[in-house]
Amino acid sequence: VILGRTGLQASRAGLGCGGHSRLGQAYGASESESIALVERALDIGVTFIDTAFAYGTEEIVGRATAGRRGGVILSSKAHPRRADGRPVSAADLARFLEGTLRRLRTDCIDVYHLHGVSLAEYDHCVRELVPAMLRLREQGKLRALGITERFAADPAHRMLERAVADGHFDVIMVGYNMLNPSARDRVLAPARAAGIGTLIMFAVRRALSRADELARVVAGLREQGHVDACVLPEHDPLGFLVSEHGAASVVDAAYRYCRHTDGADVVLTGTGSAAHLLENVRSIAAPPLPPAALERVERAFGKLDFLSGN
Ligand SMILES: NC(=O)c1ccc[n+]([C@@H]2O[C@H](COP(=O)([O-])OP(=O)(O)OC[C@H]3O[C@@H](n4cnc5c(N)ncnc54)[C@H](OP(=O)(O)O)[C@@H]3O)[C@@H](O)[C@H]2O)c1
Repeated sequence: VILGRTGLQASRAGLGCGGHSRLGQAYGASESESIALVERALDIGVTFIDTAFAYGTEEIVGRATAGRRGGVILSSKAHPRRADGRPVSAADLARFLEGTLRRLRTDCIDVYHLHGVSLAEYDHCVRELVPAMLRLREQGKLRALGITERFAADPAHRMLERAVADGHFDVIMVGYNMLNPSARDRVLAPARAAGIGTLIMFAVRRALSRADELARVVAGLREQGHVDACVLPEHDPLGFLVSEHGAASVVDAAYRYCRHTDGADVVLTGTGSAAHLLENVRSIAAPPLPPAALERVERAFGKLDFLSGN
């Protein structure tokens, strides 16, 4: 897919090196195991790799992509606030990018994002950090300006709605999944119209990768009157996607759902498991879910904009 106005050509499946797994680093994988996972992704045709200073996986990505940088799109990020809560300055950001380039073993990063920006932080980002990013671009240190949202805290996309309308950023990363499709109209459609490249995060996260977590989330929705018992059963609420509509699993359905949404360019998948990586890349390459499956998912969750599935 061409990533909006950046002109960068990326695989539809992108490897996410953060999230709950951080390439397995979150649960004890060795550095060489995580490097092998990134190499495996490249071997099977994944060309978009997303990391961040905060994930502690930039060094791993740098080692895995050294020597095969051509054709690989590297994406990383810096928070707009410091650990002590003070806003990051233009000079801080330039310093952060130097560290990222060093760890990634490259002279120029393809997409550099402001990471997890809230609506309250957005004005500072535009005033102080966008001009800094434009200068860094002129210096040849980054190709495209990106911004990512704090989906769990901003599930209705208030920050990204503004960012897409303003057009300062070439690429956005947005939370989107079956449980909260609100990005479709509010973010993805206007981003496409504006030529902004889109990266999907949270395609499965916890709620769509663990049966117990999904049952808990759906039971909560039912209790609050958001989901009708006729639409989804209490036991195995999304099991119908497998039993009636041929999905290999709920996870498979969840990635296919995102991949075939209009305006979704790259779907990120985060994992520490080579088997999951292969399954997920296959899912992202698979056809759309049948219309009847999509209709039922829409009846269940189509109007919700307050969950992240985190
Ligand atoms: N604000 C931000 O900028 C922000 C926030 C969050 C994420 N991100 C980026 O977006 C990427 C994607 O998000 P995510 O990592 O949360 O991705 P995700 O793909 O929605 O969820 C990944 C989780 O699901 C599990 N999983 C994956 N495949 C599975 C399978 N086939 N079967 C069962 N479980 C499976 C993984 O555990 P296993 O390790 O066991 O596979 C992992 O914990 C991140 O890695 C990061 O790069 C950015």
